[in-house]
Amino acid sequence: MDRDRILLTPGPLTTTLRTKLAMLKDWGSWDGDFIAVTANVRTRLLDIVNGHESHVVVPLQGSGTFSVEAAVATVVPRDGHVLVLDNGAYCKRAAKLTQMMGRRASAVTFAEDEPVSPTVLEAHLKEDPSITHVVLIHCETGTGVLNPLEAVAAVCQRFGKGLIVDAMSSFGAIAIDARTTRFDALVAASGKCLEGVPGMGFVFLRKAILDGCAGRSQSLAMDLHDQHVYMEKTGQWRFTPPTHVLVALSEAITQFVEEGGQPARLARYADNCKTLVGGLSALGLKPFLKPELQAPIIVTFHAPAHPAYDFKRFYAAAKARGFLLYPGKLTQVETFRVGCIGAIGRTEMQQAVNAVAEVLQELGIIAVR
Ligand SMILES: Cc1ncc(COP(=O)(O)O)c(C=O)c1O
Repeated sequence: MDRDRILLTPGPLTTTLRTKLAMLKDWGSWDGDFIAVTANVRTRLLDIVNGHESHVVVPLQGSGTFSVEAAVATVVPRDGHVLVLDNGAYCKRAAKLTQMMGRRASAVTFAEDEPVSPTVLEAHLKEDPSITHVVLIHCETGTGVLNPLEAVAAVCQRFGKGLIVDAMSSFGAIAIDARTTRFDALVAASGKCLEGVPGMGFVFLRKAILDGCAGRSQSLAMDLHDQHVYMEKTGQWRFTPPTHVLVALSEAITQFVEEGGQPARLARYADNCKTLVGGLSALGLKPFLKPELQAPIIVTFHAPAHPAYDFKRFYAAAKARGFLLYPGKLTQVETFRVGCIGAIGRTEMQQAVNAVAEVLQELGIIAVR
């Protein structure tokens, strides 16, 4: 079978043929044509969050974590104090990288099957005035739980604290409006809900804080202020750009707009999620989260409580049928995850459900019907 396997993962994810074909051309990084693509992508990214008035967007080479690191390094002063609202693995990663870059980091920990609480945040900010910035993971991809961005942003604004949002797995699918939600930095990447390929991130920076960010980064490559100043001046990236990734993202954004933008993407992913959860629940598999907390991005399922279950065998059998699943990321309970995002719809999700049914029968976990 030479059809690409369907990636039921949170990125890299399944892309359209149009997006793949956009990569079949070489581009000079200093050339006017490529400079125009960069400018156009930046404009259209700002469109998605209604951010033209309040924010700039700075692209950065690398995977998503590179941009999270860059955002923290650029926005937080070296003597700043960051509070991470922690309800999962990506929150823990954000706390770790903050600390590794020499900033003081504290975490307030919540249960992994609950969203973080703006009320608890408020209590912490009252108690500890040394906190300068808050880090929020919008959709905690470790479980799939959606965190309350607007309410957290409102608390940060009221207390005059900076807010850094990791919207890696939600951007483009869940509504984010810079006109009504105040954030200092918001981070996402090419290979997630915009359905580009992986290889670059981008960070929305609030214009009001931009000048103050000069010289804060302890890293040359991760300095988003410098990247922004250079890009504004020359139209070019400071260092070798991921040319093919950017043109693929440009093509992916064109399709995003054609589809109907964020509301249409959310509707398709919500339908994927419904088909998946309905189908796997009927096979006896139980989602980890309560339905009202579940973002339609990635679903964590409890592993079947059956002695024949083994993730590696489960994965291999699903792969043989053309679907790539994702391991769980929880330490306490055995789980696996299935992504709802990417250039796939109800047909592919239903095929995935059928494949999982066959796999569970093959492994002897459910009876052959
Ligand atoms: C919430 C979140 N943060 C950060 C990342 C960045 O990860 P990576 O550096 O592997 O792209 C991801 C990737 O899935 C994510 O979901």
